Amino acid sequence: MKHDDVALTDEQRMIRDLARKVAREKIARWAAEIDEQERYPTESIEAIKEAGLYGIWVPEEYGGSDMGCLALALAAEEVAWACAATATQYVDQPLGGLPILYFGTDEQKKKYLPRLATGELLAAYSLSEPEAGSDAAGLRMTAVRRGDHYVLNGSKQWCTNGDHAGILTVFATVDRAKRAKGITAFLIEPDMPGFAVGKKEKKMGIRGSPTVALHFTDCRVPVEQRLGEEGEGFKIAMATLDVTRPATGSMAVGIAQAALDAAVGYAKERKQFGQRIGDFQGIQFMLADMAIQVHAARLMVHYAARQVDAGIRGNSYEASMAKCWAGDAAMKVATDAVQVFGGYGYTREFPVERFMRDAKIMQIYEGTNQIQRLIIARELLGG
Ligand code: CAA
Repeated sequence: MKHDDVALTDEQRMIRDLARKVAREKIARWAAEIDEQERYPTESIEAIKEAGLYGIWVPEEYGGSDMGCLALALAAEEVAWACAATATQYVDQPLGGLPILYFGTDEQKKKYLPRLATGELLAAYSLSEPEAGSDAAGLRMTAVRRGDHYVLNGSKQWCTNGDHAGILTVFATVDRAKRAKGITAFLIEPDMPGFAVGKKEKKMGIRGSPTVALHFTDCRVPVEQRLGEEGEGFKIAMATLDVTRPATGSMAVGIAQAALDAAVGYAKERKQFGQRIGDFQGIQFMLADMAIQVHAARLMVHYAARQVDAGIRGNSYEASMAKCWAGDAAMKVATDAVQVFGGYGYTREFPVERFMRDAKIMQIYEGTNQIQRLIIARELLGG
């Protein structure tokens, strides 16, 4: 496998190699079973914790290793190569935790970041609602201030890890008429009265990564659990996605690389018409096109991650391109990998059908690829 080793620091190479070792020697072993049984990837999460990979995005003063967005992307790619469900859980940690790092008070950072860095505490991020997916500013969950607390009412949907998280960054509105300017972020702990985890979705792919609804019924949330100011929530949500969309792209790269590796391996082994199928130019061209897609996706992901590490904020344009291209590439490459395997690829005897199912979510979550194109087009055209 060729990676852009030349442009990585020693530290980044080290973290990638560590993640690769954990992913291949441990996480990969359980991935098929976790998918088949649609169960939480406990042992994979433990392996990530033991390797100390949870703290990559957390500053040293809060117990993390402060290695940045590219290091996170490198680790997430390796984990996704082995198990995309586990990778989704892994990337959910910065998705739920970065809003605290970027917008939290000192008390909030001290309270949550050290435990997020070790993985002792798991995070979730909840923006979407049944009637507000792509149109996030149209969310309906209300937050009404009553003295020293807020009262939250409404339901969230599609919350990754919502049933396992110890801290959830949740977005509600103090005034629906204001759309984005009414949205406010809250740090919810699951034992807050009036909070309940709802239906767990039965999904096509990443079946080991729980996706749940959340219900808030007169849920009392102390004012000190508000993240940022009233009306700042939408910017918090979007600024976080600017950083995590490259990480999501890196998961797509991991799936695509796994699919390519499997297809290349099979093309070398499988014989038809008296020769290896890899000797047919029809297969060779497919494999070459798959490799081009993976390489381009990885470079785009790394570019957007490097922007973040360089302190550039508001890089939605490149972050959306990376997420969009990598998600589409994963879907295409995984579909082609199934094709290379032929009938065998359509069975659960080989992992490529799982890669194809897992790849599909990469075009949907963290903003559909249509929304990524909308963000890119707005940047091109203005408005
Ligand atoms: N950073 C900071 N501020 C931003 C921003 C960014 N990246 N993007 C927008 N804003 C600000 C704007 O500047 C604007 O502020 P002002 O009015 O002060 O100028 C405000 O936010 C509203 O922005 P828009 O007018 O652009 O809002 P919009 O309603 O047109 O929506 C959108 C924009 C891009 C469509 C957005 O709603 C969006 O990204 N939708 C997709 C939602 C999404 O990604 N959901 C995924 C959930 S997470 C998930 O899937 C995780 C998982 O389970 C694993």
